[in-house]
Amino acid sequence: QPLAGLNTFRIPATARQYLRVTDRGQLTALRADPALSGLPRLVLGGGSNLLFTQDFDGLVLHMAGQGREILGEQGDKILVRAQAGENWHAFVGFTLAQGLGGLENLSLIPGTVGAAPIQNVGAYGVETKDVFHSLTAFDMASGELRTLDAAACRFGYRDSIFKHADGRDLIVLDVTFALPAAWQPNLRYAELANAVQEAGLAAPTPREIGAIVEAIRRRKLPDPLEIGNAGSFFKNPVVSGEECRRLLEMYPNLVHHAQPDGSEKLAAGWLIDQCGWKGKNIGPAGVYHKQALVLVNLGGALGTDVVRLAQAIQSDVAARYGVALEPEPVFI
Ligand code: EPU
Repeated sequence: QPLAGLNTFRIPATARQYLRVTDRGQLTALRADPALSGLPRLVLGGGSNLLFTQDFDGLVLHMAGQGREILGEQGDKILVRAQAGENWHAFVGFTLAQGLGGLENLSLIPGTVGAAPIQNVGAYGVETKDVFHSLTAFDMASGELRTLDAAACRFGYRDSIFKHADGRDLIVLDVTFALPAAWQPNLRYAELANAVQEAGLAAPTPREIGAIVEAIRRRKLPDPLEIGNAGSFFKNPVVSGEECRRLLEMYPNLVHHAQPDGSEKLAAGWLIDQCGWKGKNIGPAGVYHKQALVLVNLGGALGTDVVRLAQAIQSDVAARYGVALEPEPVFI
Protein backbone atom coordinates (compact mmCIF):
# COMPACT_ATOMS: atom_id res chain seq x y z
CA GLN A 1 0.00 0.00 0.00
CA PRO A 2 1.50 3.39 -0.99
CA LEU A 3 1.57 5.89 1.88
CA ALA A 4 2.63 9.14 0.16
CA GLY A 5 -1.00 10.32 0.07
CA LEU A 6 -1.52 9.34 3.70
CA ASN A 7 1.16 11.53 5.32
CA THR A 8 1.16 15.33 5.13
CA PHE A 9 4.96 15.40 4.56
CA ARG A 10 4.13 13.50 1.35
CA ILE A 11 7.08 11.22 1.80
CA PRO A 12 6.92 8.15 -0.45
CA ALA A 13 6.83 4.90 1.51
CA THR A 14 4.80 1.71 1.48
CA ALA A 15 3.17 -0.51 4.08
CA ARG A 16 3.13 -4.30 3.91
CA GLN A 17 -0.55 -4.40 4.90
CA TYR A 18 -3.21 -1.72 5.18
CA LEU A 19 -6.66 -1.69 6.76
CA ARG A 20 -9.07 1.20 6.69
CA VAL A 21 -10.96 0.96 9.99
CA THR A 22 -14.48 2.34 10.19
CA ASP A 23 -15.93 -0.15 12.67
CA ARG A 24 -14.54 -1.68 15.84
CA GLY A 25 -15.68 -5.11 14.61
CA GLN A 26 -12.76 -4.95 12.18
CA LEU A 27 -10.35 -4.75 15.11
CA THR A 28 -11.97 -7.76 16.79
CA ALA A 29 -11.62 -9.67 13.51
CA LEU A 30 -8.02 -8.53 13.19
CA ARG A 31 -7.11 -10.00 16.58
CA ALA A 32 -8.44 -13.37 15.40
CA ASP A 33 -6.49 -13.30 12.12
CA PRO A 34 -3.14 -15.05 12.64
CA ALA A 35 -1.67 -13.58 9.44
CA LEU A 36 -2.23 -10.01 10.63
CA SER A 37 -2.38 -10.02 14.42
CA GLY A 38 1.36 -10.63 14.85
CA LEU A 39 2.48 -7.81 12.56
CA PRO A 40 3.91 -4.54 13.89
CA ARG A 41 1.11 -1.95 13.84
CA LEU A 42 1.00 1.69 12.93
CA VAL A 43 -2.18 3.56 13.80
CA LEU A 44 -2.71 6.36 11.31
CA GLY A 45 -5.09 9.31 11.49
CA GLY A 46 -4.45 12.28 9.24
CA GLY A 47 -0.75 11.39 8.96
CA SER A 48 0.19 14.91 10.03
CA ASN A 49 2.69 14.00 12.73
CA LEU A 50 4.71 11.28 11.05
CA LEU A 51 7.98 10.99 9.21
CA PHE A 52 8.54 7.85 7.16
CA THR A 53 12.28 7.20 6.97
CA GLN A 54 11.75 3.81 5.32
CA ASP A 55 8.95 1.49 4.21
CA PHE A 56 6.77 0.14 7.01
CA ASP A 57 7.04 -3.64 7.26
CA GLY A 58 3.79 -4.10 9.10
CA LEU A 59 0.10 -3.26 9.23
CA VAL A 60 -1.20 0.28 8.91
CA LEU A 61 -4.54 0.82 10.64
CA HIS A 62 -6.07 3.88 9.06
CA MET A 63 -8.68 5.14 11.52
CA ALA A 64 -11.58 6.45 9.44
CA GLY A 65 -14.70 6.21 11.64
CA GLN A 66 -17.05 9.15 11.11
CA GLY A 67 -19.72 10.72 13.28
CA ARG A 68 -20.17 13.46 15.86
CA GLU A 69 -22.86 14.28 18.37
CA ILE A 70 -23.67 16.68 21.14
CA LEU A 71 -24.30 14.51 24.19
CA GLY A 72 -25.72 17.26 26.40
CA GLU A 73 -24.91 19.11 29.58
CA GLN A 74 -23.02 17.71 32.54
CA GLY A 75 -22.62 20.23 35.35
CA ASP A 76 -21.08 23.36 33.85
CA LYS A 77 -19.86 21.50 30.73
CA ILE A 78 -21.39 20.46 27.45
CA LEU A 79 -20.20 17.07 26.24
CA VAL A 80 -19.53 16.57 22.54
CA ARG A 81 -18.29 13.31 21.04
CA ALA A 82 -16.64 12.58 17.70
CA GLN A 83 -15.34 9.42 16.07
CA ALA A 84 -11.57 9.11 15.63
CA GLY A 85 -11.58 9.53 11.85
CA GLU A 86 -13.34 12.90 11.83
CA ASN A 87 -11.23 15.71 10.43
CA TRP A 88 -10.15 17.87 13.37
CA HIS A 89 -10.77 21.28 11.83
CA ALA A 90 -14.19 20.23 10.47
CA PHE A 91 -15.09 19.05 13.98
CA VAL A 92 -14.00 22.37 15.48
CA GLY A 93 -16.14 24.12 12.85
CA PHE A 94 -19.11 21.91 13.76
CA THR A 95 -18.91 22.88 17.44
CA LEU A 96 -18.54 26.57 16.58
CA ALA A 97 -21.51 26.40 14.20
CA GLN A 98 -23.55 24.94 17.07
CA GLY A 99 -22.65 28.02 19.10
CA LEU A 100 -20.29 26.06 21.35
CA GLY A 101 -17.00 27.66 22.39
CA GLY A 102 -13.87 25.96 23.71
CA LEU A 103 -12.12 24.59 20.64
CA GLU A 104 -11.72 27.85 18.68
CA ASN A 105 -8.03 28.30 19.62
CA LEU A 106 -7.38 24.88 18.08
CA SER A 107 -8.75 25.85 14.65
CA LEU A 108 -7.02 24.70 11.46
CA ILE A 109 -4.78 22.10 13.09
CA PRO A 110 -4.23 19.32 10.53
CA GLY A 111 -5.16 15.77 11.39
CA THR A 112 -8.01 13.86 12.98
CA VAL A 113 -10.00 13.85 16.21
CA GLY A 114 -8.47 10.51 17.21
CA ALA A 115 -4.95 11.90 16.94
CA ALA A 116 -5.60 14.96 19.11
CA PRO A 117 -5.22 13.18 22.47
CA ILE A 118 -2.23 11.09 21.30
CA GLN A 119 0.10 14.06 21.33
CA ASN A 120 -2.15 16.36 23.37
CA VAL A 121 -2.38 18.73 20.44
CA GLY A 122 -2.13 22.35 21.49
CA ALA A 123 -2.02 25.87 20.09
CA TYR A 124 -2.59 29.46 21.18
CA GLY A 125 -2.76 28.70 24.88
CA VAL A 126 -5.09 25.68 24.76
CA GLU A 127 -4.17 22.00 24.85
CA THR A 128 -6.45 19.04 24.15
CA LYS A 129 -6.26 18.12 27.85
CA ASP A 130 -7.98 21.42 28.78
CA VAL A 131 -11.14 20.51 26.83
CA PHE A 132 -10.97 16.75 27.21
CA HIS A 133 -13.57 14.59 28.97
CA SER A 134 -12.78 10.97 28.05
CA LEU A 135 -12.16 8.62 25.17
CA THR A 136 -12.99 5.09 24.11
CA ALA A 137 -10.11 2.87 23.10
CA PHE A 138 -9.97 -0.66 21.78
CA ASP A 139 -7.35 -2.67 23.65
CA MET A 140 -5.63 -4.91 21.09
CA ALA A 141 -4.10 -6.96 23.92
CA SER A 142 -7.40 -7.94 25.58
CA GLY A 143 -9.91 -7.27 22.79
CA GLU A 144 -11.93 -5.12 25.18
CA LEU A 145 -13.12 -1.55 25.06
CA ARG A 146 -11.69 0.83 27.64
CA THR A 147 -12.82 4.27 28.70
CA LEU A 148 -9.96 6.58 29.67
CA ASP A 149 -10.42 9.87 31.50
CA ALA A 150 -7.83 12.67 31.45
CA ALA A 151 -5.84 11.23 34.37
CA ALA A 152 -5.63 7.82 32.67
CA CYS A 153 -4.36 9.49 29.48
CA ARG A 154 -1.39 11.00 31.42
CA PHE A 155 -1.28 14.13 29.28
CA GLY A 156 1.91 16.18 29.09
CA TYR A 157 3.31 18.71 26.64
CA ARG A 158 2.83 16.98 23.25
CA ASP A 159 2.65 13.72 25.19
CA SER A 160 0.24 11.07 26.54
CA ILE A 161 0.10 7.41 27.57
CA PHE A 162 -0.45 6.52 23.90
CA LYS A 163 3.15 7.50 23.12
CA HIS A 164 4.48 5.09 25.76
CA ALA A 165 4.81 1.33 26.08
CA ASP A 166 1.76 0.85 28.32
CA GLY A 167 -0.49 2.65 25.82
CA ARG A 168 0.87 0.89 22.77
CA ASP A 169 -2.04 -1.55 22.44
CA LEU A 170 -4.75 1.09 22.84
CA ILE A 171 -6.45 2.30 19.67
CA VAL A 172 -8.56 5.42 20.07
CA LEU A 173 -12.06 4.98 18.62
CA ASP A 174 -13.84 8.12 19.76
CA VAL A 175 -13.15 11.18 21.90
CA THR A 176 -15.54 13.13 24.14
CA PHE A 177 -14.83 16.79 24.81
CA ALA A 178 -16.11 18.86 27.73
CA LEU A 179 -16.82 22.38 26.51
CA PRO A 180 -17.68 25.18 28.93
CA ALA A 181 -21.40 26.04 29.16
CA ALA A 182 -20.36 29.56 30.25
CA TRP A 183 -17.65 30.32 27.72
CA GLN A 184 -14.90 32.89 28.23
CA PRO A 185 -12.32 33.74 25.56
CA ASN A 186 -8.81 32.41 26.20
CA LEU A 187 -6.50 35.19 25.04
CA ARG A 188 -3.44 34.31 27.12
CA TYR A 189 -1.36 33.86 23.98
CA ALA A 190 -0.12 37.38 23.25
CA GLU A 191 -0.15 37.03 19.47
CA LEU A 192 -3.82 36.03 19.53
CA ALA A 193 -4.79 38.74 22.04
CA ASN A 194 -3.11 41.35 19.84
CA ALA A 195 -4.88 40.10 16.71
CA VAL A 196 -8.27 40.22 18.47
CA GLN A 197 -7.56 43.76 19.59
CA GLU A 198 -6.41 44.82 16.12
CA ALA A 199 -9.66 43.43 14.68
CA GLY A 200 -11.47 45.82 17.02
CA LEU A 201 -13.37 43.03 18.78
CA ALA A 202 -14.18 44.10 22.33
CA ALA A 203 -16.39 41.05 23.01
CA PRO A 204 -15.32 38.39 20.49
CA THR A 205 -17.44 35.28 19.92
CA PRO A 206 -15.90 31.79 19.68
CA ARG A 207 -16.43 31.85 15.91
CA GLU A 208 -14.66 35.19 15.57
CA ILE A 209 -11.69 33.93 17.56
CA GLY A 210 -11.63 30.77 15.46
CA ALA A 211 -11.47 32.89 12.30
CA ILE A 212 -8.59 34.93 13.72
CA VAL A 213 -6.64 31.79 14.70
CA GLU A 214 -7.17 30.50 11.16
CA ALA A 215 -5.84 33.74 9.72
CA ILE A 216 -2.75 33.66 11.95
CA ARG A 217 -2.03 30.06 11.01
CA ARG A 218 -2.53 30.68 7.29
CA ARG A 219 -0.07 33.56 7.53
CA LYS A 220 2.70 31.58 9.20
CA LEU A 221 2.24 27.89 8.50
CA PRO A 222 2.43 26.09 5.15
CA ASP A 223 -0.71 24.37 3.88
CA PRO A 224 0.22 20.67 3.67
CA LEU A 225 -1.82 20.42 0.47
CA GLU A 226 0.63 22.81 -1.14
CA ILE A 227 3.94 22.09 0.64
CA GLY A 228 4.52 18.82 2.46
CA ASN A 229 5.17 19.30 6.19
CA ALA A 230 4.26 17.97 9.63
CA GLY A 231 3.73 21.23 11.53
CA SER A 232 6.30 21.98 14.21
CA PHE A 233 9.20 19.63 13.65
CA PHE A 234 10.71 20.08 17.13
CA LYS A 235 9.18 20.45 20.57
CA ASN A 236 9.88 23.68 22.38
CA PRO A 237 12.72 22.68 24.74
CA VAL A 238 12.29 23.06 28.49
CA VAL A 239 15.38 24.13 30.47
CA SER A 240 15.97 24.93 34.13
CA GLY A 241 15.47 28.47 35.37
CA GLU A 242 19.19 28.65 36.05
CA GLU A 243 20.07 27.57 32.52
CA CYS A 244 17.65 30.15 31.12
CA ARG A 245 19.27 32.94 33.17
CA ARG A 246 22.70 31.89 31.88
CA LEU A 247 21.44 32.05 28.28
CA LEU A 248 19.73 35.41 28.85
CA GLU A 249 23.04 36.94 29.92
CA MET A 250 24.48 36.07 26.53
CA TYR A 251 21.28 36.41 24.48
CA PRO A 252 19.01 39.04 26.03
CA ASN A 253 16.39 38.58 23.26
CA LEU A 254 15.95 34.86 24.02
CA VAL A 255 12.23 33.96 23.82
CA HIS A 256 11.27 32.08 27.00
CA HIS A 257 8.12 31.30 28.97
CA ALA A 258 8.21 30.49 32.68
CA GLN A 259 6.57 27.20 33.61
CA PRO A 260 4.66 26.60 36.85
CA ASP A 261 7.52 24.47 38.24
CA GLY A 262 10.14 27.20 37.72
CA SER A 263 11.57 25.73 34.54
CA GLU A 264 11.50 27.73 31.31
CA LYS A 265 10.18 26.75 27.88
CA LEU A 266 12.25 28.18 25.04
CA ALA A 267 10.96 28.89 21.52
CA ALA A 268 12.67 26.33 19.27
CA GLY A 269 11.62 28.40 16.24
CA TRP A 270 13.55 31.37 17.61
CA LEU A 271 16.68 29.29 18.32
CA ILE A 272 16.63 27.81 14.79
CA ASP A 273 15.94 31.20 13.23
CA GLN A 274 18.88 32.76 15.14
CA CYS A 275 21.15 30.03 13.80
CA GLY A 276 20.29 31.29 10.32
CA TRP A 277 18.28 28.32 9.15
CA LYS A 278 15.02 30.04 8.18
CA GLY A 279 14.39 29.57 4.45
CA LYS A 280 17.51 27.37 4.05
CA ASN A 281 17.55 23.83 2.75
CA ILE A 282 19.67 20.74 2.36
CA GLY A 283 18.64 19.22 -0.95
CA PRO A 284 14.87 18.77 -1.14
CA ALA A 285 14.31 19.24 2.62
CA GLY A 286 13.88 22.84 3.73
CA VAL A 287 13.17 25.14 6.66
CA TYR A 288 9.95 27.07 6.03
CA HIS A 289 10.68 30.72 5.24
CA LYS A 290 7.96 32.09 7.56
CA GLN A 291 8.34 29.74 10.56
CA ALA A 292 11.71 28.15 11.30
CA LEU A 293 10.14 25.42 13.44
CA VAL A 294 8.49 23.86 10.40
CA LEU A 295 10.50 21.63 8.07
CA VAL A 296 9.11 21.22 4.57
CA ASN A 297 9.34 18.86 1.63
CA LEU A 298 10.41 21.11 -1.24
CA GLY A 299 9.56 18.32 -3.67
CA GLY A 300 10.72 14.75 -3.88
CA ALA A 301 12.23 14.59 -0.39
CA LEU A 302 12.72 11.26 1.31
CA GLY A 303 12.45 10.87 5.06
CA THR A 304 16.22 10.52 5.20
CA ASP A 305 16.60 13.98 3.58
CA VAL A 306 14.45 15.49 6.32
CA VAL A 307 16.42 13.63 9.00
CA ARG A 308 19.70 14.96 7.58
CA LEU A 309 18.39 18.54 7.75
CA ALA A 310 16.97 18.01 11.24
CA GLN A 311 20.33 16.70 12.49
CA ALA A 312 22.21 19.67 11.03
CA ILE A 313 19.81 22.03 12.82
CA GLN A 314 20.08 20.10 16.08
CA SER A 315 23.86 20.24 16.05
CA ASP A 316 23.92 23.98 15.29
CA VAL A 317 21.45 24.79 18.08
CA ALA A 318 23.35 22.54 20.49
CA ALA A 319 26.69 24.14 19.58
CA ARG A 320 25.44 27.69 19.97
CA TYR A 321 22.97 27.45 22.85
CA GLY A 322 23.79 24.13 24.49
CA VAL A 323 20.14 23.16 24.06
CA ALA A 324 18.99 19.79 22.72
CA LEU A 325 16.04 19.88 20.32
CA GLU A 326 13.75 16.87 20.33
CA PRO A 327 11.73 16.07 17.19
CA GLU A 328 7.97 16.22 17.55
CA PRO A 329 6.78 13.89 14.76
CA VAL A 330 7.02 10.15 15.20
CA PHE A 331 9.79 8.64 13.04
CA ILE A 332 8.84 5.39 11.29
N1 EPU B 1 10.02 32.62 16.33
C1 EPU B 1 11.08 33.19 15.67
N2 EPU B 1 11.39 32.73 14.41
C2 EPU B 1 10.70 31.72 13.82
C3 EPU B 1 9.62 31.13 14.52
C4 EPU B 1 9.30 31.59 15.78
O1 EPU B 1 11.73 34.09 16.16
O2 EPU B 1 11.03 31.37 12.71
C5 EPU B 1 9.64 33.14 17.65
C6 EPU B 1 8.33 33.91 17.54
O3 EPU B 1 8.53 35.24 17.21
C7 EPU B 1 7.77 33.77 18.94
C8 EPU B 1 8.25 32.40 19.36
O4 EPU B 1 9.36 32.06 18.53
O5 EPU B 1 8.31 34.72 19.80
C9 EPU B 1 7.18 31.34 19.30
O6 EPU B 1 6.68 31.22 17.96
P1 EPU B 1 5.15 30.87 17.64
O7 EPU B 1 4.24 31.74 18.39
O8 EPU B 1 5.01 30.82 16.15
O9 EPU B 1 4.92 29.43 18.24
P2 EPU B 1 5.87 28.15 18.36
O10 EPU B 1 6.37 28.04 19.75
O11 EPU B 1 6.89 28.19 17.27
C10 EPU B 1 3.98 26.52 19.10
C11 EPU B 1 3.47 25.17 18.74
C12 EPU B 1 2.62 25.25 17.50
C13 EPU B 1 1.45 26.17 17.77
C14 EPU B 1 2.01 27.55 18.17
C15 EPU B 1 0.90 28.49 18.60
C16 EPU B 1 5.09 23.55 19.55
C17 EPU B 1 6.18 22.58 19.19
N3 EPU B 1 4.58 24.26 18.54
O12 EPU B 1 4.84 26.97 18.06
O13 EPU B 1 2.12 23.94 17.23
O14 EPU B 1 0.61 26.29 16.65
O15 EPU B 1 2.89 27.41 19.30
O16 EPU B 1 0.42 28.07 19.86
O17 EPU B 1 4.73 23.62 20.72
C18 EPU B 1 2.54 21.95 16.01
O18 EPU B 1 2.66 21.38 17.08
O19 EPU B 1 2.65 21.32 14.92
C19 EPU B 1 2.28 23.37 15.98
C20 EPU B 1 2.22 24.06 14.83
